[in-house]
Amino acid sequence: MNIKTIASSPYNDQKPGTSGLRKKVTIFQQRHYLANFVQSIFNSLDDCQGKCLVLGGDGRYYNREAIQIIIKIAAANGFHELIIGQGGLLSTPAASHLIRKNKAYGGLILSASHNPGGATEDFGIKYNISNGGPAPEKYTEDFFKHSLEISEYKIAEINDIDLDKLADFEIEGLKIRVIDPVTDYAQLMASIFDFDLLKQSISSNYITLCFDAMHAITGPYAKRILEEMLGAPVGTVINGEPLEDFGGGHPDPNLVHAKELAQLMFNDNAPVFAAASDGDGDRNMILGANIFVTPSDSLAIMVANSHYIPSFAKGINGVARSMPTSQAVDRVAAAYNLPCFETPTGWKFFGNLLDADKITICGEESFGSGSNHVREKDGLWAVLFWLNLIAKKRQSVIEIVHEHWQRFGRDIYSRHDYEAVDSNVANEIFKHLRQLLPTLKEKIFGDYAVDYADEFSYQDPIDNSISDQQGIRIGFKNGSRIVFRLSGTGTVGATLRIYLEKFVKDSSSHQQKPQQALAELIKLAEKFSEIKQRTGLLEPTVIT
Ligand code: G1P
Ligand code: ZN
Repeated sequence: MNIKTIASSPYNDQKPGTSGLRKKVTIFQQRHYLANFVQSIFNSLDDCQGKCLVLGGDGRYYNREAIQIIIKIAAANGFHELIIGQGGLLSTPAASHLIRKNKAYGGLILSASHNPGGATEDFGIKYNISNGGPAPEKYTEDFFKHSLEISEYKIAEINDIDLDKLADFEIEGLKIRVIDPVTDYAQLMASIFDFDLLKQSISSNYITLCFDAMHAITGPYAKRILEEMLGAPVGTVINGEPLEDFGGGHPDPNLVHAKELAQLMFNDNAPVFAAASDGDGDRNMILGANIFVTPSDSLAIMVANSHYIPSFAKGINGVARSMPTSQAVDRVAAAYNLPCFETPTGWKFFGNLLDADKITICGEESFGSGSNHVREKDGLWAVLFWLNLIAKKRQSVIEIVHEHWQRFGRDIYSRHDYEAVDSNVANEIFKHLRQLLPTLKEKIFGDYAVDYADEFSYQDPIDNSISDQQGIRIGFKNGSRIVFRLSGTGTVGATLRIYLEKFVKDSSSHQQKPQQALAELIKLAEKFSEIKQRTGLLEPTVIT
């Protein structure tokens, strides 16, 4: 194989964020930009000689070009085998599964998750390690370090690969397998859930459903699993064809961006169940007729009912949630005597706990949940989990949720995002909040007496690594919380997130509307952060 060495020079902005490197497509299209980052990853890894790499993406604009470039760089760096999803497609959880199943050295997943796609929108790339999970911080920091020192990259002089034909072939000692992106993942799902029960429940019309793939990666996965394997009528999956620009939409499964689904579900003729997933298939939004299930509640409900799912029938080891996720799951863990971990935001912090069998199920408020079946959050897994629960418990979504609140109380929850804030202004807000923290101790604001006010720092219980500055928390004596964080996935300016949570035990208060129930906390959060004066934004950009 002819290998060329190309001289290059560093870019200074290739620091991975919460989930890989995300930038505008136009940034990635700069000369050598993608090649630099990929070579920096390979330089940072021990030794790529003779190893296997999984490769695929969510199909967004620039996916195909990027894959051809990566194939050549991987070949030049000595990889022996490349496993690539047909059409260059792989959902994030499917890629995680393929890495594990094939005992690959790692994988490169091309996605900017829920961020819009298209020539002027976002692209992203992340490296997953051999356990199938996102590279932990010690890796991503080293990738960044290498990217600042790079002076050349290696590229093999081979032709572009036909990504559309399923095939196994060899190019001068390099094995390339273009595989069906869905098959292995679908088999994994069938091994976790009761597919026979689901088939019966769907064919008898006990469960009627709709799944919105938002023109992103889950279209082919949902069609195969829900329509072909479980027998849901054709048309159950809407927006099921992956498009490079996601049909111009924002592939983020929430009530703001999955409007069509929201309209369908808050209606007299709503089906029993509906769900949506995001760009790369790791997020999920769960809806029942006339109810939206908050992701934090969904996690708690899944844990409380996990014994109904065949693969968890023998029990689970423990649970984890990201810090800003509501404490609903903590209450379930306490009742079931399960260890419960609070980690920083981002799936990479769950990997060690899952590998060490400390936890079985974990999740985040940002529409993400998953288990030890892979090392990523998994949208369709959550959908099948809920369908399995409905079928097994013979209860509707609303009944399951209300029963849960009855038993554990309700953590009323909302997140307010202020997007595209000037980065200097955002940093000033955090400076101001840090100064405010010591002055808040023991203060009382209306119904809210401050219990603690600090900045979250995490020590990983397995490798003892420390991650500082993971969000500012103000906790109140009645269990309510306000959390402030800066997003690590945005590509324009800074996104400031305010997480609000209020616990209500008494069932007479369970039916309140979140924004009303949280009104006093919202005012406090705005007062503490001075967000409106400092940003000039009068309202949050997105409320979930
Ligand atoms: C966001 C979410 C976080 C999630 C990540 C990747 O990160 O908040 O929970 O893990 O996307 O999907 P953020 O932009 O807040 O850093
Ligand atoms: Zn995603």
